[in-house]
Formats: sequence, structure tokens, C-alpha cells
Amino acid sequence: MTQIVSEVATPVFIYDAGIIASRYAAVREAFPSFEVLYSMKANSSFAILGLMRALGAGAEIASGGELFLATEVGFDPLDVVFAGPGKTDRELEEAIVAGVFAINVESFRELERLTRISKLVGVPARVALRLNTSAGLSKSGGGSAGPLHERMAGGPSKFGIDEEKLDGLGRYLGEPGIELAGIHIYTASQILDADEVVANAERTAAAARHVEERTGHELMSIDFGGGLGVPHYEEERPLDLPALGTRVEEIFAPFKKRGTRLMIELGRYLVSDAGVFVSRIIELKESRGERYVITDGGINQFLRPVLMKVHHQVAVLNRLDDAPSIDAKVSGPLCTPIDITGQEIAVPEGTAIDDLVGIMNAGAYGYSMSPQLFLSHPTPAEVIVLNGRVVNARKRGKYEDLLLNQEPLPGTV
Ligand SMILES: Cc1ncc(COP(=O)(O)O)c(C=O)c1O
Repeated sequence: MTQIVSEVATPVFIYDAGIIASRYAAVREAFPSFEVLYSMKANSSFAILGLMRALGAGAEIASGGELFLATEVGFDPLDVVFAGPGKTDRELEEAIVAGVFAINVESFRELERLTRISKLVGVPARVALRLNTSAGLSKSGGGSAGPLHERMAGGPSKFGIDEEKLDGLGRYLGEPGIELAGIHIYTASQILDADEVVANAERTAAAARHVEERTGHELMSIDFGGGLGVPHYEEERPLDLPALGTRVEEIFAPFKKRGTRLMIELGRYLVSDAGVFVSRIIELKESRGERYVITDGGINQFLRPVLMKVHHQVAVLNRLDDAPSIDAKVSGPLCTPIDITGQEIAVPEGTAIDDLVGIMNAGAYGYSMSPQLFLSHPTPAEVIVLNGRVVNARKRGKYEDLLLNQEPLPGTV
């Protein structure tokens, strides 16, 4: 790791392609009847997308920009589904024209809009109904991100159609421009309790039957979400994937038997622990009993610990053999007190300026979720370790990039 950093400088995201490939293989093995869709929001770096496609994944997209990237990287549109509670007409049109397998509609109004747009472009819109089930994750079911942060169904929600409103569906399905492909349910992210995933699978299978009874229409596809979490805290255990897969496979076996496309969509499970965010210590400080390790990478590049209030393990990478013994706050260079990437981090006694600090589990929602322009630092580089080689995935930004798409006020510069 220190060798890589000496070549590319800091701050840098380093991803391990081997870990991503093994996570993907483990999911495929545990859920053999399911197509694995990669949720691009977790990490939409082009090289990662290419890796996912090469591994055989499909894509779950959530914006026109992600559709553009999916197309550029060469995902087969029939392996792409488009979810999101606020798709614009333009995005819907682009998705119809691109021929994605399903647009996951999240309201009846969106169905109405799709009817209109599909007429305009003369191509039918294939849709999956995203349902907001009446039950969701139980109170205890969340992983480290906590029950509040990452729930998307089972209560009032901006996502999906409340399942009790399904009665209103009939009038839309008769429309010539609409082709019902299937259903989609996404309950929550960061689930580490297998029983919760199974309960979600059961709810999804029940909802599929319900929709089929209501519409008299056999569904082509069922996307049961996923939400598989990754441990962040020592007391958390990883999901036992083979055991979980067996239980979920059993629930969907009747659908599989008759040829329904089954889908699981995953972001963090595939990429989170394949990534490390590495920055360099610029300053060490003691202030009124509190120690600070100040690095050249901050929440502008890795916002997640602050935004989602989740702990990421932190290590001084060039001192892994030294026992961590001093409590410190690891912070970035930004002029804001919230720029703390690690609270109560134990670092070795000898930690020094220029040491390298690694934040773990940075492969998901790192680069993609951070306000890169806040305080106008150049954007960090991204590299991928592939078969023992270090491959550049994204160059470090330059100062000049900060002017991209901007115009000065006339007469001021
Ligand atoms: C609809 C949908 N699918 C998939 C994901 C990916 O979640 P994760 O990265 O936890 O797998 C999300 C996350 O927000 C989502 O909203």
C-alpha cells in the first residue's frame, strides 16, 4: 500500500479488483437463481463499472447520468433497471429509448408520465412497480448505519407505491404504452441480520403473488432489492452468505421454476471493503487534552463518516506493526469543525508527519457521495489493484478543473 502511494501521491482511493471479484462470485454462488445488479450509486468510477460488467453483473441505475455511464461502459440495456423517486421526463425518455429492461415506477403519476412519453417517442415503456410494503425492517434489524438512516420502505416513504394503493393500478395497465415487467422492493440498506433479509424476501414474494392476482398477469421479473450490509464495528458479524442464499432461494423457487427473472441489487456488499481511502499526515496537534491527526484528505473526499454517522476503521498504514495506543481524532484539512473522518481512533505512539492514514470500507459511497469541490482542493485520484498491478482509474484533479463550466462575471477578471 505504501508503495502504491509513493507512486500516486495522496489523497487517493485504492480499490482491490480481486476483492470485488470474490464478493461478486460469492453472491453468485449463494444466489445462483438471481441476476446480480450492481447499484452504481455506491461507486460509479468508470473502471469499477467496467469491472462489474466484465464480471457479468447488470446495473441498477438511479439517474440519467448513471444511464449514460452504463451505456458508455457497455452494459446490455436489458440488464439495466432504473429506480429513483424523482426521474425527470428527459430521464424517462432516455431510459425508454435506451431500452432498459425496466423503469421502476415509484408513483402512479410517474406511470402517467411514462404513458405520455412512450406515446411521444413511439416506444412502449417497460416498467416494474416499486412497492412500499406496509411492513419494513424490524427495529433491531439495522446494521451499523442504524435503523434510521437507510430505511426506504415499511412506513411513509418517498420511494415506491404504497402497497395498499395497488387498487388504483388497473387503469394504467390498460394503456398501450405501458408494459408491466415486474415488481421491485427495496426495504433498507446495510442489513446485517439474515432474518431481516429473509423477511424482506418473503414480503417480496407475497407482493409478487398479490400483484399477479390483481392484474391477472404473470410477472416477468422480481427484484427483491438486497440491502446486504458490511460490518463496520468490531461487534458486528458479516452475513453468512451461503446460508442466507439457501433460505432466499427457497422462497423464490416457485418463481424460478416458471422462468421469472430474479434480481438482487447490491452496491456496498460488492465494493465497500475493497476500497481504502489513503491520505497523508500534514499536522499533529494536541489541544487541551485532545489529540488531532490532520491529514491532506478530509470529508470533502470521504464524507460518509460524518454524513451517515458511521464509524470507519482507520489505521496508520506504515505502522501496522506498532500497537495503537493513543486516542486521536483523525481530521482533514478543511476549515470546518465537522471535518473529522475518524473519532476516537487509536494510533501508534510514534505516529509522525508524512505517515499514511487509511480509512477502510471506502469502496462504497466514498468518492461518489462526497462534496469534492468544498474548499476547492483538487479531487483525489483513484487506482485499482488488478492482478498485482496498479492501474490508474481516475487522475487527480488539477487546480484548473475548478474553473470547469464556470464563466466569470463580465468585467471582473
Ligand atoms: C433502490 C436501491 N437499490 C440499491 C441500493 C444499494 O444499496 P447498497 O449499497 O446498500 O447495496 C440503494 C441504496 O440507496 C437503493 O436505493
